[in-house]
Amino acid sequence: MSALLVFGGLLFLLVFGLALQCSDAAALLVPSAAEHPANCTERERMALLDFKKHITDSSNLLSSWVGQDCCSWDGVHCDNTTGNIIGLALGQQGSEDFYMPLGGEISPSLLQLQHLSYLDLSGNFFSDPNIPSFISQFKELSYLNLSNAGFYGLIPASFGNLSSLHTLDLSHNNLFISEPAHHEWLSHLTSLKHLDMSAVPFGDNSSSSSLFLTLNKLPSINEIRMSNCELEKFPLSLPHLNFSSLSILDLSFNYINFSGISWVFNIKSLQYLDLNFNVHHVTRIPRLGVQSRYIPKIQYSKISIPESLGSLCSLRTLDLSWLNISKKLVELGSIFSGCLKHSLTRLQLRYANLDGDIPDWIGDIKNLKVLDLSTNSLSGSVPLSLARLSFLEELFLVSNQLTGSLPEEIGNLAELVHLDLSHNQMCVIISAQHFTRLKKLETLAMSGNSLVFNVSSNWVPPFLLNELRIRSCSVGPEFPTWLQTQHKLEVLTMSHNRISSTVPDWLWNSTTHNLVDLDLSDNQIQGMIPEFLTFTHMENLDLSSNLFSGPLPDLHMHSPFFSYIDLSNNSFSGHIPRIIVNNTTLFPYFGISISMNKLHGRVPDWLCQVKGLEFIDISKNHLSGELPDCWLDSFTLSNINLAYNNISGSIPDSICHLRGLNSLLLSHNRLSSEFPNSLKNCSQLIVLDLGYNSFIGSIPTWIGECLSSLMVLILKWNAFANHIPQEISHLKNLQILDLSSNNLSGPIPKGLSNLTVMQMLPETTNWLPILLQNSETVFLSFRGREDAYGENRIGYVNYIDFSSNKLLENIPEELTSLYGLQSLNLSGNTLEGEIPDKLGRMKQLQSLDLSRNELSGSIPATLSNLAFLSLFNVSHNNLSGRIPSGRAK
Ligand SMILES: *[C@@H]1O[C@H](CO)[C@@H](O)[C@H](O)[C@H]1NC(C)=O
Ligand SMILES: *[C@@H]1O[C@H](CO)[C@@H](O)[C@H](O)[C@H]1NC(C)=O
Ligand SMILES: *[C@@H]1O[C@H](CO)[C@@H](O)[C@H](O)[C@H]1NC(C)=O
Ligand SMILES: *[C@@H]1O[C@H](CO)[C@@H](O)[C@H](O)[C@H]1NC(C)=O
Ligand SMILES: *[C@@H]1O[C@H](CO)[C@@H](O)[C@H](O)[C@H]1NC(C)=O
Ligand SMILES: *[C@@H]1O[C@H](CO)[C@@H](O)[C@H](O)[C@H]1NC(C)=O
Ligand SMILES: *[C@@H]1O[C@H](CO)[C@@H](O)[C@H](O)[C@H]1NC(C)=O
Ligand SMILES: *[C@@H]1O[C@H](CO)[C@@H](O)[C@H](O)[C@H]1NC(C)=O
Ligand SMILES: *[C@@H]1O[C@H](CO)[C@@H](O)[C@H](O)[C@H]1NC(C)=O
Repeated sequence: MSALLVFGGLLFLLVFGLALQCSDAAALLVPSAAEHPANCTERERMALLDFKKHITDSSNLLSSWVGQDCCSWDGVHCDNTTGNIIGLALGQQGSEDFYMPLGGEISPSLLQLQHLSYLDLSGNFFSDPNIPSFISQFKELSYLNLSNAGFYGLIPASFGNLSSLHTLDLSHNNLFISEPAHHEWLSHLTSLKHLDMSAVPFGDNSSSSSLFLTLNKLPSINEIRMSNCELEKFPLSLPHLNFSSLSILDLSFNYINFSGISWVFNIKSLQYLDLNFNVHHVTRIPRLGVQSRYIPKIQYSKISIPESLGSLCSLRTLDLSWLNISKKLVELGSIFSGCLKHSLTRLQLRYANLDGDIPDWIGDIKNLKVLDLSTNSLSGSVPLSLARLSFLEELFLVSNQLTGSLPEEIGNLAELVHLDLSHNQMCVIISAQHFTRLKKLETLAMSGNSLVFNVSSNWVPPFLLNELRIRSCSVGPEFPTWLQTQHKLEVLTMSHNRISSTVPDWLWNSTTHNLVDLDLSDNQIQGMIPEFLTFTHMENLDLSSNLFSGPLPDLHMHSPFFSYIDLSNNSFSGHIPRIIVNNTTLFPYFGISISMNKLHGRVPDWLCQVKGLEFIDISKNHLSGELPDCWLDSFTLSNINLAYNNISGSIPDSICHLRGLNSLLLSHNRLSSEFPNSLKNCSQLIVLDLGYNSFIGSIPTWIGECLSSLMVLILKWNAFANHIPQEISHLKNLQILDLSSNNLSGPIPKGLSNLTVMQMLPETTNWLPILLQNSETVFLSFRGREDAYGENRIGYVNYIDFSSNKLLENIPEELTSLYGLQSLNLSGNTLEGEIPDKLGRMKQLQSLDLSRNELSGSIPATLSNLAFLSLFNVSHNNLSGRIPSGRAK
């Protein structure tokens, strides 16, 4: 399923994003160490050895640092005539191989290297998070890279002494600059050419505004990268636009409002301008539980592009994505008719609120290699003029309202590598002639359009694709046979295509080689899967929602990035074979869903031992017997969904050995016992659903203390008896509490008013569904489940259901302080007394059911304040008087 793919990708990005970003920057500017007639001086050699002594080097990155000739040591570069050390290149580029960066302390003995001009410590992680201020004493330093090295705090003001510095990279640390004085030192770096401060937060202070006044005075500044710096205040104008040699300006991912700012578009020397994603008005909603993380509520900065942009005759890259341009694309014609049209090679206008047709003048920007007009409201058909872009390598027109077919002439774009037309309303007929010249095509994405392969069954396409994404294209009923020629395919997304044949044998044979992502979900594919399948690179395998039958295959997954297998909603039968995950060296978090099949037998013991398993979903099968009691001490398994089976017995003692267990879904089974004491140590549980079983006895008082992370507690349809313990009110994070259809008696605890999250407005707590949908921890279990958190899946995030018990006495007034509740169901009890007046203050209520009780008195008039109420039931009570008028129905 595509959501799942996105998720896999996201997670990958989060963990490895940084590393990958850096991986393509090869060792640049490093003086050659090829020959070194002069040896290094003893003094400098000793300094390096002292430096090494203070460093922790778990991966032996400095293992070559032995012997006399330190000029031949890795990362050490000497002047080839004097033997002086002039460069230390100790940056660690992220790579796919696992390594430990250098740690420990940076010894000031480095100061002995008096001729050092190049220092790269990027990608390491030293124990002292402060940037060592002695660096400012390297008089000849011209290149300094401290990127991504875990530094924290202020940048030493003495950096202003580095008057020879021409390259400074401080990006991706936890540095901060919150007032102008914190960056005053920059004004002294008069030789500076390249500056990268990406991801250094400037806060919403005036410092960002004065920063640009400072930078404008640097005579040789050539490159400024300040992406993701929280820049907000931005100078409307500059007293004097210097920036005479600025060629690279990256201001992407900030909060700058560009309307009325024109100087940025007047810098004649610009070759690269990236203003992508500047959000204008950001309300940051705190994300509970995860400290200092925010879900931004965003509005895109409205921008009116000055005509002067058209005369930036050197501009090669222009990215104005995620800015609200709000025009017809054709209206930008005059800008792109200037000299810009000769220089541009890369134009990105994604999500820019553009509409109308794709104008013909696009075909005049004739050096374009990359054109991205995705996620706008462009209509009409893909114009013939695009075929004039003979250098075009990447064309993205995703998510517009384009119609018609693809002009055959597009097939002449011989340089095309990536073509993505997904999510339009096109009807694309692909014929052999069409694509004969597209020899370089690697990505073809057409999802969401209708697609016809008008080719013979033995068509051999001229290209070898890496990625084919054709979700929802009505390609079926046959499996396209030409795919057999695509032996380099890594990503094949062919879900929801009405394919009803079987999967041809050759697919299984070739997938074992290169496929990384295979998504054939949501078709009507029949037949069995080979008994043994070994995948070398497969990360995501989704065969869900088809008609596959027979036994589950023996799966061997060898990729260190293996992320999930989804075989749910098929007709697999028999027992569950062991799934071998062979390589957990790098990324040991993966999930398996085999829910909604016809699997028999017990929950397999091997689940207890799979290293790296994070979620397992075997719900909706025919499993029986007891749960295995072999769970090992593990942090990874966080999510277990075994709902809708015939599992009996109780919850095993070892379950809380899973110290990361976040969600345990066991509803609709035959579990019976008292409330399981075995859960006492599962302090990380966020979601517990034991509904529809045969549990008996009391709800224990320890629940409030031991399960204090719970947000969702569902015990409905069991035989729990006795009082609801007061201690339940210690579950401060609870948002969903469903104890309905049990034998609970006694009064409703007054302390429920202490369920603090239920007092918050749904806007502030509506991250629960986000958590449920996006989090790696609670992911698969909730996907597609009708009643995962009660029947209120329609979106209530705060509710209480105590219906069908034997609860007594009054509705406690304290309950009415749970202002965030969207649904309250107390029906089918023996509650008496009057309906509290103050219920009218629970303004978020959409559903209020007090029926089948012994309530008396009149219905409070205040209830007519409940503007959202759409279900209101007080029938079968002893109430008198009128139903209040107003918006309540
Ligand atoms: C700094 O080092 C990182 C790798 O760790 C590299 O990606 C980046 O390009 C370097 N910065 C400069 C300005 O050379
Ligand atoms: C450099 O050191 C090597 C071995 O340590 C020695 O053989 C060589 O003569 C030295 N070169 C100079 C120029 O001192
Ligand atoms: C010494 O370095 C200079 C400048 O880096 C370079 O031009 C020259 O070719 C080098 N000589 C040798 C022998 O490596
Ligand atoms: C270096 O910087 C410090 C602090 O900014 C300053 O006090 C000192 O005079 C500077 N030294 C030189 C040699 O410029
Ligand atoms: C903003 O800057 C002023 C001084 O210019 C400083 O006093 C204040 O603490 C700064 N605010 C933040 C949030 O850093
Ligand atoms: C697939 O592989 C199996 C075993 O490796 C082989 O017997 C079979 O002939 C192959 N099928 C095709 C269509 O290549
Ligand atoms: C595991 O993955 C790593 C990194 O890709 C690879 O070097 C290694 O050979 C793999 N091991 C096995 C057993 O497949
Ligand atoms: C893991 O994979 C390697 C290489 O693919 C293989 O040789 C080895 O037997 C596998 N180990 C297990 C336990 O399956
Ligand atoms: C609610 O919590 C407060 C503080 O934790 C406590 O003093 C109070 O007794 C609690 N209220 C009830 C009714 O339990």
